[in-house]
Amino acid sequence: MATVILRNDNIKVNVPAGMSLRQVALKTGASMEFGCLRGECTLCVATVDTGMEYLSALNSKEITAFELLGNKSGSIRLMCQCKVEKDEGEIVISYLATC
Ligand code: FES
Repeated sequence: MATVILRNDNIKVNVPAGMSLRQVALKTGASMEFGCLRGECTLCVATVDTGMEYLSALNSKEITAFELLGNKSGSIRLMCQCKVEKDEGEIVISYLATC
């Protein structure tokens, strides 16, 4: 199991490899927002503070979205697109708080 920490909601949860971060958000009741769920609206963009190496590689939708956003930091991901890749490690995520 990997450990996912959702900073904004002070949530820490163990999840198996293959689980998407959207599934983690749903499972835990986290406050992060989702829109299209297809990698197009960027509403679910979040910063991976640590643990990027435990997540799936960027897919083509994320690459396109980050080009449009002009973000080359390498530390952001779309929560509807990326998955926990390994059954180990700690992934710390920050996102925009909802009202
Ligand atoms: S919900 Fe639209 S890009 Fe993730």
